[in-house]
Order: sequence, then C-alpha cells, then structure tokens
Amino acid sequence: MTNLKPLEPHDIISSGIKPTGVLHYGNYFGAIRQYINLQDTAEAFYFIVDYHALTTLPTPDTLRVDTFRMALDWMALGLDPDKASLFVQSDVPEVTELAWIFSNLLPAGDLERGVSFKDAKQRGDTPNAGLLNYPVLQAADILIYRGSVVPVGKDQTQNIEIAKRIANRFNRRFTSDKPYFHPPRPWVIEEVAVVPGLDGQKMSKSYNNTIAIFEEPEVLRKKVMAIPTASTPLSEPMDPDSDHVFSLIRLVGDEETVSSIRDSYLRGGFGFRRAKEELINLLESYFSDARERRDELVAKPNVVRDAMVAGAERARVRAQETMRDVRELTGLNWKDAAR
Ligand code: TRP
Repeated sequence: MTNLKPLEPHDIISSGIKPTGVLHYGNYFGAIRQYINLQDTAEAFYFIVDYHALTTLPTPDTLRVDTFRMALDWMALGLDPDKASLFVQSDVPEVTELAWIFSNLLPAGDLERGVSFKDAKQRGDTPNAGLLNYPVLQAADILIYRGSVVPVGKDQTQNIEIAKRIANRFNRRFTSDKPYFHPPRPWVIEEVAVVPGLDGQKMSKSYNNTIAIFEEPEVLRKKVMAIPTASTPLSEPMDPDSDHVFSLIRLVGDEETVSSIRDSYLRGGFGFRRAKEELINLLESYFSDARERRDELVAKPNVVRDAMVAGAERARVRAQETMRDVRELTGLNWKDAAR
C-alpha cells in the first residue's frame, strides 16, 4: 500500500504546516493523519510555520489568530502534546540562524527553480525573496531538530529533496569522519496524499475548492450540493470512478459503507442527490469527536497555549544543541581561537 521504508531507531520525525486559513481535508489526509500515527512510534517535532507564512504578507492580526487557531485544531484532531513536541516555529528563533548558514550551501539557481517561486513568476507575480528562500528555511526546520523523516503531502517532495541536498553538502563540507545531519526523507502515503477538491482538482486553498474540517453544517451542505456531477439520468447506472462525490466518500467512509454506496451507483436509480446526502453524513460523523474536543478547547485556550509553550521549550533545547555544534563545525566560534 505504501512506498515507505520502515522507521529506524535513530529516526526523528519533523514537519510543519503553514497557518494560513482553515484546515481542510487535504491537510488532514495529506499530513496530519500521518502526524498522529507517527507520534506513537518515534520522537516527533510538529510546528506551525509562522515565519513561512510571512511570505504571503498576512496582516499581524491574521497571522496571530490563524497561528493560534491551527494549534487549537491540531490538538482537537488528536495531536498529543504529551507524545510529540507541538510548537510555533518562531518560538525557536535559532531556526533562522541555521537557515542563513544553509543558504550559502546552495546555488541560487536551485532556488529559482523551486516550484512555488517559479509558479508565482509564471502567474506574473513578483515573488519576494522570502518565497525564494522558503525551501532553505524549511530545511533548517527539519534539520535543526535532526529530523530524518518528514510526513508531508506529495507536493512537498521537491522541498524535501532540497533539504536532503543541503544536509549532504553540509556533511561534505564541514565534517570529515562522521556525517552530522541525517539526510531527511519524505513520508508520503501515496494513495491519499492528493485529496480531490470539490471540483476534482487537488484540494487546495489556492484553488478555492476546499472543505474545512470544522466547516459549519450549513456551509458544508451548500458546498457538497454544489459539487458538479455527470448528467446521468436518475434511472441509469452512475460511474463511481469518475465522480468527485464518490472520491470523497471513499476517503471518509469505512469499507462496507463505501462498497454498498458503490453498488448503489452501479445499480442505477440512486441519483447524485442521494450520493451527496450520504457524503454529508459521512463527513459530519468522521470528525464528530474532534469537533467535541475542539469546543472544549475553545472554552479553555490556556490549555492550548501552555501545551504549545512547553513544546517550544523542549524543541528549543534540541535546537540550541544543534546550533552549538553547527557553530563549532562552521567556525562561528571565534573565541576558541583566542584561547
Ligand atoms: N512547505 C510546507 C507546506 O507548504 C510547510 C513546511 C514548512 C514544512 N517547514 C516544513 C513541512 C518542514 C515539512 C517540514 O506545506
């Protein structure tokens, strides 16, 4: 089912998500579900990347509120601060220092070929230098905690490739016997890594085709009812495999439910309206526990804040250790020459 090499004892998990807007199903199946599974098997660092969010120039209020809301959603969905270190990227400012050091190990051309940067230019935008350097900061994110396994969606493989290149260059340039960084590898679950959006394209905020995990029920209903479907007459069989409603059903239904709905499609006389009703029910029940936990946390924001602060303290200890080594390996330790 997967292309995953099993975890090894030295493996450390690290991954981040941008605090932009509201979590959707693509985020959940592309990344967060893997986070939750992995938090039981290895040491894990999960962070909300507010420095990265600056590339899109959010207003200060938006950035603050979205960052906190992401922390809340994470904990509601089952990320457990007792198992993994959950924190906000900018609470460990050492990561920007490492990014600066790393930026010298990569030809600028590699970054100009970065997908996000290239896409922005092709759209006719004038992307800022933050977007150009985005993959370098991401490499620092991963490596400062000495992460070697990075659960992400498929669209992140290029960025992980860059992190791997940086780790290898660092090792080659600054270590002689034992490499310092483990070159990281992506942890992508192929089947679900790309979640279809309401229009059948990849679900993504930029395509405006998302369903939020904690969508208001009326909005959820409106969005699902507006999913375009084939014009098959009601009495005739419908093709499940080309249908967006069915691809979403497959994502959130258990095996038995999915196969019985599939039969209804093939039998005919079912209709897309009923299929959509089924989908709405499945979507609502899939996250009903998380919804309850979320309501509890909304009433107790301190619980979220304290957990994130404690996570950052743990992460920072690790980051400072790494930076001590990196400073020494790179020669940013001039005082040792004055002894
Ligand atoms: N680039 C990732 C995204 O857009 C977010 C990210 C930032 C990240 N730093 C990271 C992912 C480190 C994995 C590891 O989704």
